[in-house]
Amino acid sequence: MKKYVTLLAVSLAAIVALGFLVSDIGAKEDERQKINAGRQINIESPAQTSQWQRYFPRQFDGWKKTKDSREVVDMIAKWPALAIVWAGYPFSKDYNAPRGHYYSVADNINTLRVGAPSEKVDSPLPTACWTCKSPDVVRLMETKGDLGFYTGKWNKWGDEIVNAIGCYDCHKTDTRELKVGRAYVDQGLRAAGMPVFADSTHQTKRDLVCAQCHSEYYFRPTPNGEATAMVVTLPWKNGLGAEEQMSYYNDGKNFPDGKPFKDYENKLSKAPIVKAQHPDYELHLSGIHGKKGVSCADCHMPYKQEGATKFSDHQVQSPLATMDRSCMPCHRESEAKLKSILKEKYDRKETLFGLAVNNLAAAHLEAQKAWEIGASEAEMSAPLNLIREGQWRWDYAVASHGGFFHAPDETLFILAKANDYAQQARAALKITLAKHGAADYVVPDFGTKEKAQKLAGWDMAQLIDDKKKFKSEIVPAWNEQAKEKGLLDEKIRDYDDDVASWFGKNK
Ligand code: HEC
Ligand code: HEC
Ligand code: HEC
Ligand code: HEC
Repeated sequence: MKKYVTLLAVSLAAIVALGFLVSDIGAKEDERQKINAGRQINIESPAQTSQWQRYFPRQFDGWKKTKDSREVVDMIAKWPALAIVWAGYPFSKDYNAPRGHYYSVADNINTLRVGAPSEKVDSPLPTACWTCKSPDVVRLMETKGDLGFYTGKWNKWGDEIVNAIGCYDCHKTDTRELKVGRAYVDQGLRAAGMPVFADSTHQTKRDLVCAQCHSEYYFRPTPNGEATAMVVTLPWKNGLGAEEQMSYYNDGKNFPDGKPFKDYENKLSKAPIVKAQHPDYELHLSGIHGKKGVSCADCHMPYKQEGATKFSDHQVQSPLATMDRSCMPCHRESEAKLKSILKEKYDRKETLFGLAVNNLAAAHLEAQKAWEIGASEAEMSAPLNLIREGQWRWDYAVASHGGFFHAPDETLFILAKANDYAQQARAALKITLAKHGAADYVVPDFGTKEKAQKLAGWDMAQLIDDKKKFKSEIVPAWNEQAKEKGLLDEKIRDYDDDVASWFGKNK
């Protein structure tokens, strides 16, 4: 009998303890919800992230730590073939892997892609190249309207866009609920037949704030009086996958000029290329986590606990740094085991990345040679189209740096197709080269960044000289003007932004 009493007491104690635990978890969730909804705040210049600090110190501290991810990985040094496949397009001048949100504006200023505008010379790129870099963009879209924002060259907003990605990119100022401040997201969702942001579930909103910037897009020429605005547009009408997006781009009916879309013509091969840009959101949806409803924020902004308060970790970074909070709530495997699974996925992607991009680069160079020795438009059209199809798929798979993990099957599947297209292009070009007496043509060595950029036709020394001048003469003036207009958040602009692949790696 005594045994049963003891057992009963222990069980009761356990139930009570469990009750406390559950109510404790409940209280923390309540606390987070309370913080999340309701309290009226008043922020005068919301694009200045330091103004949010006094209301939300924990989120601010996390956000500021995105500064810790500072390393610059020069992707063209790693994969010189990039300079060939992007020849004639600014990406072949300079391209680094992404790093912390804190550096978004600095990196946009630093990249050789935007050129070295001055009083006399415009940037080669449109204002749209600021779109996913700053909460000042949201402010400008609100004050100038979409067309006002998207009209003109990149340098037009040099003294207006000065603050890195911050709270105002993802939150409303009055209730601090999640928002998307960029109209093209809802337009893209509508085109795809998906619910718009306001009609989405809370969990989906935790994806869509990221999808504002981590999605494939193109610049749609749109008349604005005499001028033409280049409007960021999501190619989602036929669906969000690589094949559906390409079918959209290939259908001239979707474009004002009635022709299939191209971002540029490759300078060497003349192939009409669509440049894929970080379709993280789309690939995520096609992977197992996306399909099971896990959101970007679950892994990249896991919950954190401080005393009785539970909040979202605003240090958006690689979840491998926070596996205990990002993965372990759902997985039983050890961190080491999960890491080794990821390493295998990464290595496989890297192998297919290399095969596909090196074949694509060789195809571009072979096409260049074929033109040189007199191949006709009719002979070239099929192989150039194969290059276009292959390069799109390769870029779609790898421009999203996390795709190897977010959607490993899809990533490897489209990389395999990319490589097949590239091989088909090369086989066709071999025949054309033979017909014109160059059966034994061997492509020149593009094995280093220097060699590849020379083949792409850039005078890198000149580009870098111009850039240095731009940085010493124009950028300080922009910052002064932004300061005078009260736009610059001086409290958090303490980074040393002279880190760029052209400046000297990780100096
Ligand atoms: C890239 C988008 C993004 C940025 C930038 C961002 N947040 Fe958040 N924030 C989120 C997401 C996602 C959540 C989770 C919302 C939810 O599930 O309710 C969140 C949650 C919050 C919450 C609710 C409590 C919590 O922590 O879960 C507060 C308060 C908040 N953020 C404040 C800020 C502040 C202040 C800044 C700027 C320093 C900021 N956020 C920057 C996306 C962002
Ligand atoms: C306003 C645009 C914007 C929004 C919103 C945004 N990002 Fe980013 N993100 C960027 C840009 C731009 C970079 C690259 C910054 C650089 O390299 O200077 C980046 C970089 C990253 C990186 C690499 C960080 C590192 O340390 O290597 C991750 C991971 C990331 N974002 C995830 C997210 C997630 C998750 C969300 C939503 C919670 C999100 N981003 C919302 C624009 C955005
Ligand atoms: C909210 C829950 C959740 C979180 C958080 C989560 N996972 Fe998963 N994960 C799943 C589910 C569900 C599956 C599907 C497999 C299943 O049903 O058992 C899965 C599958 C996987 C797989 C095998 C599928 C594949 O792609 O090959 C790996 C590996 C994985 N997760 C790693 C991670 C890592 C690493 C993290 C943290 C960065 C993480 N997961 C975070 C729920 C989660
Ligand atoms: C299940 C967890 C999980 C989910 C959900 C998830 N990610 Fe990731 N993400 C990861 C992991 C793990 C990596 C690889 C990190 C590494 O290699 O260090 C990664 C990598 C990335 C990278 C590349 C970072 C870099 O510096 O190379 C970006 C950008 C990114 N994710 C954005 C997103 C966005 C946007 C979403 C939602 C649309 C999302 N992620 C959803 C776990 C996740």
